[in-house]
Amino acid sequence: MITLFSDKGSPGCTTAGLSLAMVAGAILIEADPFGGDLAYRLRRGRQPLPETPTLLTAAALARTTTPDETLLQASHAVGEQARVVPGYGFAEHAASVDWQRLASTASHATVPTVVDVGRASSASPALPLLADADLVIPVLRPTMEAFLRVRDRLQRLLPVIADLRSGPPSVVPLLVVQPRHARSLAADLDDFLASTSSGPVVHPTAWIAEDAAGAADLYRSQARRGPLMKSAGQAWAALQASAPADRDQAGVS
Ligand SMILES: Nc1ncnc2c1ncn2[C@@H]1O[C@H](COP(=O)(O)OP(=O)(O)OP(=O)(O)O)[C@@H](O)[C@H]1O
Ligand SMILES: [Mg+2]
Repeated sequence: MITLFSDKGSPGCTTAGLSLAMVAGAILIEADPFGGDLAYRLRRGRQPLPETPTLLTAAALARTTTPDETLLQASHAVGEQARVVPGYGFAEHAASVDWQRLASTASHATVPTVVDVGRASSASPALPLLADADLVIPVLRPTMEAFLRVRDRLQRLLPVIADLRSGPPSVVPLLVVQPRHARSLAADLDDFLASTSSGPVVHPTAWIAEDAAGAADLYRSQARRGPLMKSAGQAWAALQASAPADRDQAGVS
């Protein structure tokens, strides 16, 4: 299980999650406590996705059903090989989700899971999904403001996650960036974070392309092999390489 989160702004966390799930044949779980976008964006014609299943379905099934069966029943097929558990529509639903159980379900599935917890802080109810993740992935754009915010966010969040999981998590920042600047800006972020107290647990930055046409295609479930999907394939490989090998299953799961 890998878990993506953002700080302020909308850097493209959900879009990054969907593109990674598409290239990896994974299940994307839109576990944003503030409510989801996928049911609306993954329209079939003018209709949103059917009202069920959503994250609420997964939360209900998780009480009685195995992780694989829960995620299969609570998800929609998207594209050729990915599945999506869309977030619920309204933030009011957060109180009816057992986030700890959801985290246990997502982390024990045999299929790879990509989780999007949206804007995260140590007060987020979705914290268990960060604590149980093989990789914790802050998604950001390449601005100095975003670099500073991610540094400060990690400094607050990582000790809380480390407490919950009894050890520091592995972190891979994910930049949403124009491909021609990706290498140098990723190196800038690596240098910047290396000089902070979070440095030791932060792996090299991965990136996916800023590609508006690619993002629009993605939400029409037409993942053409443009910059977004190409970079998502490379990012997935980089994430696999950064995932700790000493978990009970090899690689990211
Ligand atoms: N890689 C990308 N290239 C171009 N546009 C993108 C990319 N990712 C996201 N966008 C656009 O940016 C907007 C926000 O994207 P998205 O919903 O993925 O962000 P988010 O961080 O999940 O936001 P929120 O905080 O609202 O959940 C959308 O209009 C989306 O199409
Ligand atoms: Mg989002």
